[in-house]
Amino acid sequence: MSSPVLDVRDLAFAYPDGHQALFGVDLHVHRGERVALLGPNGAGKTTLVLHLNGILTAGRGSVSVSGLQVAKEHLQEIRRRVGIVFQDPDDQLFLGTVRQDVAFGPANLGLKGAALEQRVMEALDRVGMADFADRPPHHLSYGQRRRVAVATVLAMEPEVLVLDEPSSNLDPASRRELAEILRGLDVTVLMVTHDLPYALELCPRSVVLSEGGVVADRPTFDVLTDEALMAAHRLELPWGFDPRRIDSLPR
Ligand SMILES: Nc1ncnc2c1ncn2[C@@H]1O[C@H](COP(=O)(O)OP(=O)(O)OP(=O)(O)O)[C@@H](O)[C@H]1O
Ligand SMILES: [Mg+2]
Repeated sequence: MSSPVLDVRDLAFAYPDGHQALFGVDLHVHRGERVALLGPNGAGKTTLVLHLNGILTAGRGSVSVSGLQVAKEHLQEIRRRVGIVFQDPDDQLFLGTVRQDVAFGPANLGLKGAALEQRVMEALDRVGMADFADRPPHHLSYGQRRRVAVATVLAMEPEVLVLDEPSSNLDPASRRELAEILRGLDVTVLMVTHDLPYALELCPRSVVLSEGGVVADRPTFDVLTDEALMAAHRLELPWGFDPRRIDSLPR
């Protein structure tokens, strides 16, 4: 098999207050895979995600992206390769207009003028937010801000797209449209989610993180139909949802 795009080895991390959030996590994701990262509140999912582009740095173990170690001296290149849509869109949007926020990353890569404008508008168009380009992000609804946050990352054309709870606060049509965007992209995707039907729809493989460790790494269908595993890690299917009654699963 090819070497993984995302290669997390024996990653352990404690926050400065001493709280240990990760205890030796291994995760390997290959090019073009879409993997869901599941697990209860406080499992360490966001902490893991923040290691993938060097916002947090490994206490022990290592993280590399296409063979390049996530370390201070490679941060610029790592951040070009890995785009993260944060759990809270307000951590991603900080400029005066939607257009400026989406232009920020590509402008840092050296894009300017018409090429930059085109990159920005394409990304906004993809998430259905082109008409909001000149609005201040803080005047948008939460779901609209999340869509803009996705656009800021799409505009970077990353190799690996990491999304932390992308479907939360999206209306059903936006949730479906985001799924279509993700399916249409030729990138490697790691998606943190509590939305198990969304994981099943989009990600053939799921990794379950619980209390800072990986407790399962299997086809999503197998995870969602393993009642003992689900119960042990506070995973619950929405009422009435039965994975066995879905007739076309992603591959
Ligand atoms: N800045 C911080 N300082 C200290 N502890 C923290 C900090 N951020 C998170 N933690 C702790 O680390 C653990 C993992 O948190 P994390 O945010 O990674 O969980 P999560 O799996 O993303 O949860 P959720 O599903 O609620 O988003 C939790 O116990 C949390 O309280
Ligand atoms: Mg989280």
